[in-house]
Amino acid sequence: MTTISLDSAAPNTLDVDAIVIGVAPADSGVTPAAGAEGLDQALDGRLAAALKSLGATGKAGEVTKLPTLGAVPAPVVVAVGLGEDVDAEALRRAAGAGLRALAGSARVAVALPAASVAEAEAVALGALLGNYAFTAYRTDDRPDPVGEIILTGVRTADGAVAAARAETVAQAVALVRDLVNTPPSDLSPEDFADTAARVAADTGLDVEILDEKALVEGGYGGIVGVGQGSANPPRLVRLAYTHPEATRTLALVGKGITFDSGGLSLKPADAMDWMKSDMGGAGAVLGAMSAIAKLGPKVNVVGYLALAENMPSGTAQRPSDVIRIYGGRTVEVLNTDAEGRLVMADALVRSGEDAPDVLVDVATLTGAQLVALGTRTAGVMANDDALRERVVAAADEAGEPSWGMPLPAELRKGLDSSVADIANISGDRWGGMLTAGVFLQEFVPDGVRWAHLDIAGPSFNKGEPYGYTPKGGTGAATRTLVRLAEELAAGNL
Ligand code: BES
Ligand code: MN
Ligand code: ZN
Repeated sequence: MTTISLDSAAPNTLDVDAIVIGVAPADSGVTPAAGAEGLDQALDGRLAAALKSLGATGKAGEVTKLPTLGAVPAPVVVAVGLGEDVDAEALRRAAGAGLRALAGSARVAVALPAASVAEAEAVALGALLGNYAFTAYRTDDRPDPVGEIILTGVRTADGAVAAARAETVAQAVALVRDLVNTPPSDLSPEDFADTAARVAADTGLDVEILDEKALVEGGYGGIVGVGQGSANPPRLVRLAYTHPEATRTLALVGKGITFDSGGLSLKPADAMDWMKSDMGGAGAVLGAMSAIAKLGPKVNVVGYLALAENMPSGTAQRPSDVIRIYGGRTVEVLNTDAEGRLVMADALVRSGEDAPDVLVDVATLTGAQLVALGTRTAGVMANDDALRERVVAAADEAGEPSWGMPLPAELRKGLDSSVADIANISGDRWGGMLTAGVFLQEFVPDGVRWAHLDIAGPSFNKGEPYGYTPKGGTGAATRTLVRLAEELAAGNL
């Protein structure tokens, strides 16, 4: 467990294993950023020249290590490039890159520039997120994350608030990353629901869990149909945060496929090996609910986790089966690999019973999202243009890239079924992310403003770590959802 604390002393006086500073490009080469003044003095004003001689340019993501050779107690300085315009995300990424470069150290001082509470929070959050590691299954001697992070150069009153908020959010994101990274053999729908119950107990959320029997009795045909091919039965979890003075309600719905084999419409091997991440949407909803409970915004928030394992077996649903979604509408399942929209349909309809003012769903829904927007940018669709723009803006402020996408009405026709109300895949080949959104839209309760985030790419990093983002589970959308709850509380949605 990492701790984060504040110290008003200059970092060059602290007994730490390393000091993280910022470095920006300059005409003369590079300039150390605010926060590094004391260190520069202790090095006789030679910090910029030393960094330049080591090849530092100050560009974002660059990490330069500099030995201090006894000039200050800390043996090493890690100078992280800030790039040209230093916004909150640049600070988060720099702090994250600095901490990643220091795995194995016990105590690290972070002396990045932070002129406001928001910037202090960005530095703290980036450091904590970059310091994440999934160690539960390691037995080798890879270095552990940093144990103690000390923020310097931040005014104390502001800094304490910033550090506490950052810690709450970082814990939520780490929970999501852990859930995504956990092998699916150890995270069945039941295990996920148990974790949700534990989080609820720890944070004071109300929790209701529907097991496979309750799901059949309640008529949740989407979740039951997807889950019936697995030895691990499905669950629907409802979490609720209530504020006594709230006037608005936000509903969140997350796709929680603990493993997506594709079912009988089986995926090829190279598309299947990362499908433990197909519960990233439900993870984000659980993580966000835990942070919201701790932050206490003046709004009510309900969160639904639609949990099932999509497996092929003698009891699995078949392509051409017809299922009945909660509320009674029928779906012809022409492809069992388009399972996310089936479990989501049940939960979207059910969320109408909470009479939400705003409904936001998050799902690793389509490979087409990756084709359209790549691995890092989420697609945002909505039945309300203003809401879509607010969600994209909130995601941007949270440091989670996203892009608004349309829901073209003509795509509905491709989902026509000759035997049921709707089919789960389209005869049209193009625009698969949008088609999935159009399918979900059918199940949005009447009159409810709704936004849909497709995070198929952003939820899981198959590439190398960057900034504060590790390999594997990223916790994508968690911070956006927390921000949306705060925005609705402030009357900004
Ligand atoms: N879980 C997948 C989508 C996905 C793909 C998530 C890659 C993350 C990375 C989803 O259940 C799926 O299989 N979608 C199909 C839908 C198709 C059958 C209409 C897809 O995108 O291929
Ligand atoms: Mn699938
Ligand atoms: Zn899936």
